[in-house]
Amino acid sequence: MTPELTNFIGAYHGQIETALHRNLPVSHKPGTERFNQALRYAVFPGGKRLRPVITLLAARLVGVGPEALKSACAIEYLHSSSLILDDLPGMDDADVRRNKRALHLVFGEGIAVLAAVALLNQAYALFGSGARELAGGARIAELLAEATNCIGADGMIGGQVIDLESNATAVNQDVLAHRDAKTIALMRLMMTCNALAAGASEDDFEALAGFGECIGEAYQICDDLLDELAESSQTGKPAGQDARHLRPSAIVESSHYEAQRRALAQLERGKALLAARFSDAPELPLLCEVGDLVTNGVKNLTRFSEAAGLSFGLS
Ligand code: IPE
Ligand code: IPE
Ligand code: MG
Ligand code: MG
Repeated sequence: MTPELTNFIGAYHGQIETALHRNLPVSHKPGTERFNQALRYAVFPGGKRLRPVITLLAARLVGVGPEALKSACAIEYLHSSSLILDDLPGMDDADVRRNKRALHLVFGEGIAVLAAVALLNQAYALFGSGARELAGGARIAELLAEATNCIGADGMIGGQVIDLESNATAVNQDVLAHRDAKTIALMRLMMTCNALAAGASEDDFEALAGFGECIGEAYQICDDLLDELAESSQTGKPAGQDARHLRPSAIVESSHYEAQRRALAQLERGKALLAARFSDAPELPLLCEVGDLVTNGVKNLTRFSEAAGLSFGLS
């Protein structure tokens, strides 16, 4: 990792963790202790924290600084929420996540569903209040429309539906492209949310959205490869889940090499889109480096802060 990226993560890691603690949608009602514990279990220590770091980098490209922290939390909560639901018995039926027992196995399915919905709910509140602080809320409607599209039935939720409903023996690249929305759409949103809230130009917005979609596609291809090739101890989740469920996967129709080549090609396309618009920005090489870290092996990413040699121990 370059000193520049290390410094950026060093500057923001503590603030991200603090904001995630501060905004956690805990209940103050009596009898909700297990629900609150479940929220903390889901979010802390969390995973690589890749998405909030990228959200902050993308925000700076359009002139938004630490005001982007609320949206960074919103993105991480949406991600955590999606993983809780993804691991449920009715979905991927995964018993391990981030090297810990899956949340529903510790707290039960009911609390797991409620914690996931609470995180989802809080994300929209944070987008709203962040946008209000940023530009007086003038662009809240556009931001919420983008968020609901990205998370909704033609975005992340739609991708998860296709994942569930398709069978690996009958998938093609078209089905896979639609399925990949499960990961692509949130990565688009992490790139676009602050551009929308701040009223960035259409060209800036398109470049950010394009990079998000490309890195999202590359990310899911790498995740599919790791699912097949890596040990559970490396990924922190069960190995071979996709094959076990006959899930569509980037390697169903392609060799490992071809899948990796597609991931690299997508990443290069994303970098070119971003470079065409933000060639002088100091954040450009950092975002490209994050992309390279992803395709070099998601398994090497551990926690971003640890990769940067930092330890804040907030959890
Ligand atoms: C896992 O995402 C789900 C996918 C979209 C492939 P990450 O691997 O980024 O999850 P954490 O947050 O680092 O655990
Ligand atoms: C999950 O995809 C994507 C979302 C949760 C939206 P995967 O099922 O491939 O993710 P992992 O492998 O369980 O992390
Ligand atoms: Mg899964
Ligand atoms: Mg996977």
